[in-house]
Amino acid sequence: MTRAERRVASPRVVNISDLRKAAQRRLPRAVFEYVDGGAEGEVTLRENVRAFEEVTFRPRNALFVPSCDTRTKVLGSELAMPLLLAPVGFSRMLWPRGEVAAAHAAGKAGVGYTLTTISGSPLEDVAQATSGPKWYQLYLVGGREAAEATLERAQKAGFTVLAITIDTGTFGMRERDVRNSAGTLTGPSLLAKVPHLPRLLTKPSWLAGFLRDGGMLTLPNVIVPGRGPMLLAETQAALSRSVVTWADLRWIRDLWRGPIIVKGVLTGDDARRSLDEGAVGVIVSNHGGRQLDCVEASLRALPEVVEAVGGRAEVLMDGGIRRGSDIAKALCLGARAVLVGRAYAYGLGVAGEAGVTRALQILGADLERVLKLLGCVSVAELNRSYVNVSAAWRRTGC
Ligand code: GLV
Repeated sequence: MTRAERRVASPRVVNISDLRKAAQRRLPRAVFEYVDGGAEGEVTLRENVRAFEEVTFRPRNALFVPSCDTRTKVLGSELAMPLLLAPVGFSRMLWPRGEVAAAHAAGKAGVGYTLTTISGSPLEDVAQATSGPKWYQLYLVGGREAAEATLERAQKAGFTVLAITIDTGTFGMRERDVRNSAGTLTGPSLLAKVPHLPRLLTKPSWLAGFLRDGGMLTLPNVIVPGRGPMLLAETQAALSRSVVTWADLRWIRDLWRGPIIVKGVLTGDDARRSLDEGAVGVIVSNHGGRQLDCVEASLRALPEVVEAVGGRAEVLMDGGIRRGSDIAKALCLGARAVLVGRAYAYGLGVAGEAGVTRALQILGADLERVLKLLGCVSVAELNRSYVNVSAAWRRTGC
């Protein structure tokens, strides 16, 4: 067993919150807080988690469920459980070739992997690393010409579904990142990195891995015409001026030969508009509470979107999922599957591929146990009758 594997096999790692604590121990503060933090007062970040606590189960008891079927089909992708890894920016800061490590773990577990545009690893390497479904998430950070070339590469490499994120009108105010001067850690100036050194030296395992990996400096999937890969240090400014509009969605529709899913939908109106513009699925998401603070928790927004879509498209959700019971609750409220970001990113930061595998084992075992305790033989049986929602939700028609 490697040292990394030992770290996540420890009896101290029982749930995702334990993985979070272990990630906090191994990663430099600026890196850990980039993953862990949210926008402004982090109200939505907290609400995403709290919303799950407001939903309680209504089990069918006295039933013997020897085994249960968690397999799910989402936009043509067969998943071993109703879960995909969400796009997580800068994963290569968490672990050497982090995107490749996470994709490999996803493939082994039979779940999908969504590669972010803000990846430190070439999409071809990531595609090769996983035997599972591969989705690509698009930002227009390099402009349309760069996006067109990337989409061509992504299709050639075998990515089947395109997720388009629509909630980055500008970059969210991540106060923890500002306090940690996270921008200078990833920026090109060596001099600006010097104040970080004393802290980085206290995390030798992370530092050795980061240096061995060459440090994450560019975005190999955003090739700026006439110049080469976009620099990591340019990402935040580029994101702030590259909102994806409905007109962009129409343009992308003609370029991408597979299903398109719109990520960042929180209202019935945006869900309907997404379908009108050619999407075949929507992801109810507030970007993990990292963009506009004080928007509704994803789980609370889910019923309105499910109602608006009315079975015409697949509805997924992300935000706040830390347990298998959370996955079950989202499915009861109409999601076909969920995406998890932080839950696996903590594992990646602790032990690379082994950490992601551990996170997926935890969530998968949780989900199976919850299904048995609910008296369900398969995830397909989950529906609204298996949960109660708090009184405050009922006025939203839930
Ligand atoms: C990127 O999408 C981020 O949320 O940091």
